[in-house]
Amino acid sequence: MSIRPIVQLPDKRLRLVSEPVVKIDAEVKKLVADMFETMYEAPGVGLAAIQVGVPKRVVTIDATRGEEEKHPVALINPEIVWSSDEKSVHEEGCLSIPEFTDEVERPEKVKARFLDLEGRTIEVEAEGLFARVLQHEIDHINGVLFIDHLSKLKRDRVEKKFVKGAKREAAE
Ligand code: NI
Repeated sequence: MSIRPIVQLPDKRLRLVSEPVVKIDAEVKKLVADMFETMYEAPGVGLAAIQVGVPKRVVTIDATRGEEEKHPVALINPEIVWSSDEKSVHEEGCLSIPEFTDEVERPEKVKARFLDLEGRTIEVEAEGLFARVLQHEIDHINGVLFIDHLSKLKRDRVEKKFVKGAKREAAE
């Protein structure tokens, strides 16, 4: 296992629509292991493969907190198959947009379908933090970032800040 560098704004790869995984082979399993290590190290509650530069529909999540026992979930080709009309608002952040958080409104409950690492089809009903992370990560594999759920004004401001930061780094 190894920690991989996390792709950050304004890297355009974050806007790619990731490709479905056709075969869950050793390479995919290695990717998942590296993603868990990278996610726990960050630390974060979720990671999409494109955040380590791999445009595949692979997501890792662990929505447990603090002292709770770890509960890693690897999702291959995940999709939301149902969302509740009921919404909730919660603070979100993203490892690809460091040091920025804001409140995002999303459906409170979702049903998701995905393959596990053995290729079995799994369907889960999620609510609370798990539902939120699922939606955030599935957005990532579709090239969508949580700032896209904010007003255009706020999104432009954040994007500009990161473009400036990248220019400054390049100049140094
Ligand atoms: Ni994110």
